[in-house]
Amino acid sequence: MKQTITEKLIAASLAEGEMIRGQRIGILADQTLSHDLNGVMSYQAFEAMGLDKVKVDLAVHYIDHNMIQADYKNSDDHRYLQDITAKAGVICSRPGSGICHQLHLEHWARPGKTLIGGDSHTVAAGGIGMLSIGVGGFDGAVAMAGEPFYLTMPKIVNVQLIGKLPPFVSAKNIILELLRRISVHGGVGKILEYSGLGVETLNVAERSTVTNMGQETGATTSVFPSDENTRKWMRAYHREEQWVPLAADEGAVYDETIVIDLTKLEPLIAIPHQPDKVVSVREVSGTKVDQVMMGSCTNGSLQDILSVAHILGGNPIHRDVDTGLYPATRTVIRESIARGAHDKILASGVRIFEPVCGGCNGCGFAPQTNGVSLRTTPRNFLGRSGTASAQVYLVSPEVAAASALTGVITDPRDLNLPPLTYEMPEVFADDRDMFQLPSAEPEKITIRRGPNSKPIPEMPSLPDVTSGEVLVKVGDDITTDHIVPAGANYTPIRSNIPEFSKHAFKVVDETFAERAQKAGGGFIVGGSNYGQGSSREQAAMVPRYLGVKAVIAKSFARLHLANMVNWGLFPLMFIDAKDYDKIGQGDYLAMDTDRLKEGENLILRNETKKMDIIVASPLCQADLDAVKAGGRINQVKDRQR
Ligand code: F3S
Repeated sequence: MKQTITEKLIAASLAEGEMIRGQRIGILADQTLSHDLNGVMSYQAFEAMGLDKVKVDLAVHYIDHNMIQADYKNSDDHRYLQDITAKAGVICSRPGSGICHQLHLEHWARPGKTLIGGDSHTVAAGGIGMLSIGVGGFDGAVAMAGEPFYLTMPKIVNVQLIGKLPPFVSAKNIILELLRRISVHGGVGKILEYSGLGVETLNVAERSTVTNMGQETGATTSVFPSDENTRKWMRAYHREEQWVPLAADEGAVYDETIVIDLTKLEPLIAIPHQPDKVVSVREVSGTKVDQVMMGSCTNGSLQDILSVAHILGGNPIHRDVDTGLYPATRTVIRESIARGAHDKILASGVRIFEPVCGGCNGCGFAPQTNGVSLRTTPRNFLGRSGTASAQVYLVSPEVAAASALTGVITDPRDLNLPPLTYEMPEVFADDRDMFQLPSAEPEKITIRRGPNSKPIPEMPSLPDVTSGEVLVKVGDDITTDHIVPAGANYTPIRSNIPEFSKHAFKVVDETFAERAQKAGGGFIVGGSNYGQGSSREQAAMVPRYLGVKAVIAKSFARLHLANMVNWGLFPLMFIDAKDYDKIGQGDYLAMDTDRLKEGENLILRNETKKMDIIVASPLCQADLDAVKAGGRINQVKDRQR
């Protein structure tokens, strides 16, 4: 049978199920990726599962996300991560080496293989011809344990690129164009597979800009073929022997086709506060700019930085524009210095930060109040920059640099500069010694844990009959931020569940945590779309830790549902949404969870109001069994024993 690249990749890692669209399949990772922000939780889960060694060919951990060392908490976490990875057989990239996705692409990603990473932009590795999927911290730990990752067999979209990008229109504009066309929902349940002669005009770093931000379409992942450009890239990073070709078979069948003519693209910009609110730069040019942030995992490659240096040319940036650059990796910095680009950028007055995420996820370089910030990052969600009132626009490095010079949003073509001709080095500096290899004597390593770090609490299996009071009743669209707070004050205690739990539902009801603990748990009642927002698993772990047995809501957000299964919390939905009104905060409820079966209704007794309410769970039987066992964590623990 003729196969697409996606089908070839999935077939190579398929552990359960059949490659039939819409069916549940399990795939096994060849490689895993983790980073410090989700990694502490991942490795704590790994330890809680009783594992002492990873069971994949290659596991790499990166310390790159939160470098703020205002006190001991993050520094202690970094030390814990260096110890646990050395012991567990994981390669560790210490702070200063670079941003995980670019580093992985440079040194470890391999065409034809599968990568499961505890970060949504893991999909960047699709640029090298790898099946790369981003998951939450717990699923990352499960992948490290050698267990399958389950997903629904996606549809496959053929994105045909034709033509060649014009000068000053770089790869970022390809993905902005795609977002403009299909929106932030357009990729859901799909894999975006690139083809066409336009692909040959893009090097691996450019392809990775496209796959990285493909995440913003909601796609499971994106993938490019592995060709001579891929081989050249791997040769430049001293690993040509790992290269394999990968292409779709002639006549392979796709579910959809989208054609993008690169020749016709122009500089594009995503306006606040969604990556798909894309217009041409010309439409908003002249808007005053307060801050420009360049670099990040999306646009921190050597080519991106040389492009910035070319446009700035050592000329002073506008006095009102605070301008910063996060190069992607140490190797990029070294080559940029060797080519004189860093000098030009510094001479222009740009602040060059260390190669980390930093400002991209609100851990540094926040804009001023109401500030207009132009960023080359992949996301411009409200508040992500660290400043709730900021107006963040997403742009290419060329638009960012041009606007830093002029102080207003500027189409770089209007500067009348000669185009940059970029040649990738034949070989980059061999920086592989920056990775800390796992210890040869893991038994001798004692893991150092700071006072802030606490092991994941035991989550016992749930009783068949459960009862208790409604601890909190909330409305529609409750986010994970409502359930457990976000922000720099709370990030360092995310892996300390007993401490973090004191802040549960703080923004809704200050007394929730205290009441839950006193009552020994109970229920939460919610409206529609309960748990929307991030993949933060603590939003399920914390209520569970406080003894909550079930959340009864009108509907649930997809990622939060998965987290409820992982951590053993029953999701129940009202059969009749109006029954939401039949339960009040403080009511006493009882149910027989043993009767909870896939597709069947369950009677929930409201003892206070003396009435029965019909509910059902949206979960399949396998997931219901996982919840009854106290969460997938307990099932994996049992299997690993
Ligand atoms: Fe995420 Fe860091 Fe990139 S925060 S989007 S991996 S720069």
